[in-house]
Amino acid sequence: MTRDRESWSPGSWRAHEAAQQPTWPDTAALSDVEAQLRLLPPLVFAGEARSLSADLAEVAAGRAFLLQAGDCAESFHDSAADQIRDKLKVILQMAVALTYASGVPVVKVGRIAGQFAKPRSSNTEERDGVVLDSFRGHIVNSETFTEADRVPDPGRLLEAYHQSVATLNLLRAFTKGGFADLSQVHSWNQQFVASSPEGQRYEAIAGEIDRALHFMAACGIDLSREGSLHEVDFYTSHEALILPYEEALTRTDSTSGDAYDCSAHMLWIGDRTRQLDGAHVEFLSGVRNPIGLKVGPSADVDDITALCDKLDPGLTPGRLTLITRYGADRVAAHLPDLIEAVGRSGHPVVWACDPMHGNTFTSATGHKTRRFDDIVAEIASFFAVHRSMGTWPGGVHIELTGDDVTECLGGSESILEGDLADNYTTICDPRLNARQSLDLAFLVAEQLRA
Ligand code: PEP
Ligand code: CO
Repeated sequence: MTRDRESWSPGSWRAHEAAQQPTWPDTAALSDVEAQLRLLPPLVFAGEARSLSADLAEVAAGRAFLLQAGDCAESFHDSAADQIRDKLKVILQMAVALTYASGVPVVKVGRIAGQFAKPRSSNTEERDGVVLDSFRGHIVNSETFTEADRVPDPGRLLEAYHQSVATLNLLRAFTKGGFADLSQVHSWNQQFVASSPEGQRYEAIAGEIDRALHFMAACGIDLSREGSLHEVDFYTSHEALILPYEEALTRTDSTSGDAYDCSAHMLWIGDRTRQLDGAHVEFLSGVRNPIGLKVGPSADVDDITALCDKLDPGLTPGRLTLITRYGADRVAAHLPDLIEAVGRSGHPVVWACDPMHGNTFTSATGHKTRRFDDIVAEIASFFAVHRSMGTWPGGVHIELTGDDVTECLGGSESILEGDLADNYTTICDPRLNARQSLDLAFLVAEQLRA
């Protein structure tokens, strides 16, 4: 089967209809920004994307589990080191809980260092009779509700690039420079988490890991030589939505001659931009990064297998991750048919569950929110269906933050509708807080072990 179609180029998407793009008022300014981005260094390297593909191939084969997690939308105002560190802490804690309880290696991918663009269900937003363009993420405009702030500004593409650079720099330092060392496993437990039941449960595992490390050292094993105890492979990902940005960061890898979108290791296509002949599918079909595809309840099974054929013509393990996001009570009705059709198509996909986006609603207090119990229920249903069909429930895709926010209902601290206003800081969808995230990791670990 041909690898890349001859007609593909980083800009070939321009001949296709691109959904969910802002209307840039100043196209000359946009072109100027694109030219600047093309000259800037890549954020990630092709070799790193290839090693994520290899890790995901292990997931596809049922030998590893994918944890993809981070903000719904990163904010230009949240670039403080503490916030990035705390998000990383939660993800590392979740990975420890999952690995320790299940014995399965966990592939860690952040929705981070580039997750700035949002698809919207409506092009406009109305407040008190005033209609303005919708907020599309900080790479496009601002969430503040004034006419000037909602105008798409191409200068934000450069700002997104630079914030991604800064975030990635910090992540690389944290994950390769000692902070992610397993001997630090206690220090990832933030103060407000440590006293909670899930924090205590984590502390117990951390203690056992400590004892295991001491035991190995006492047996004469030189732990300083075991790289995997001291460093973590942590990958980045975001929705490849704003195509001029993604195109401008696409580079030809000098060793393979292949094109890679060097804005992140993994890119995904959203549920609203997966048209078979659309620009997003065209663009991502030609880059060699691992690709995610969101699949919601409106998806037609034949359309998804056609997308698999277009995005993964070589049937390459690790190339394609299908991220289902049906809603807790719709998994059983939709997922079995999809698994069967994809199985027949021969694509060795990673199956991941996004239990967030199908379970969103607006509370009586006017907050967009999700119930922790619905999130758990969607994951349980995802596991049950895959178990019954003999396929590997390969991963979860979670919106979370390391902060002590009150955005999702329930969890062991029982956040109620009346509590949502206490610390509701997301600029887009509601995220699990650090305690809810850790709690969820233990519940997923139980499913994995079962
Ligand atoms: C998202 O992941 O933030 C998102 C918008 O998801 P979906 O495309 O599945 O709706
Ligand atoms: Co979201």
